[in-house]
Amino acid sequence: MSCPVYHAAPELNPSLLPLNWLLGAWESDEPGEGSFPSIEPFRYTETLHFSHVGGPMINFMFNAFHAESKKPMHQECGFIRMQPGTNKVAFIIAQNSGLMEIEEGELTGKQLNLKTHALARISFAKKPQVKQISREFQLRSDGRLEQTVSMATDNQPLKQHLHVIYRRP
Ligand code: HEM
Repeated sequence: MSCPVYHAAPELNPSLLPLNWLLGAWESDEPGEGSFPSIEPFRYTETLHFSHVGGPMINFMFNAFHAESKKPMHQECGFIRMQPGTNKVAFIIAQNSGLMEIEEGELTGKQLNLKTHALARISFAKKPQVKQISREFQLRSDGRLEQTVSMATDNQPLKQHLHVIYRRP
């Protein structure tokens, strides 16, 4: 007879309680819409996963796929931290394109507004260079999660790049 395995779920660190609505898995409800003045519009699907191991950070992994071919496209992973006692939030992000980002912003109710605090990239990153990113997550009243991302590059001002709505799988 095998021994029972107890999965002691760690308690969420108190500094992250205001973000508990993000935790777990999400998947795009309908294909997300990608755009930017210098590229052809495109459609993609995406899965998000937010987890924690009890420390004062949420771990996340986002995987985007081509809506038709299902080929993997963009990926991001990292950590989310909150300044205890405030509504200040930081996303520490690594992107598969070779971009590293810190975004900071505020949590208002169930809406997160973030923008670039620091950026770094690999020496052989594809052009154009991203100069700024702004991002919004919002938990809608229908229980779905919405993400909008805008960016500025060295040859385009800040414009929307992504819009996608997720549901629980
Ligand atoms: C193009 C950045 C997320 C798909 C681009 C470009 C940049 C960029 C700088 C080139 C724009 C130009 O040529 O003027 C970013 C950043 C992201 C992000 C900073 C996250 C914050 C995504 C996601 C997808 C995606 C989630 C979903 C699949 C594409 C596609 C193109 C593109 C298809 C056009 C083709 C290409 O140049 O590779 N992105 N992107 N991006 N992005 Fe994103």
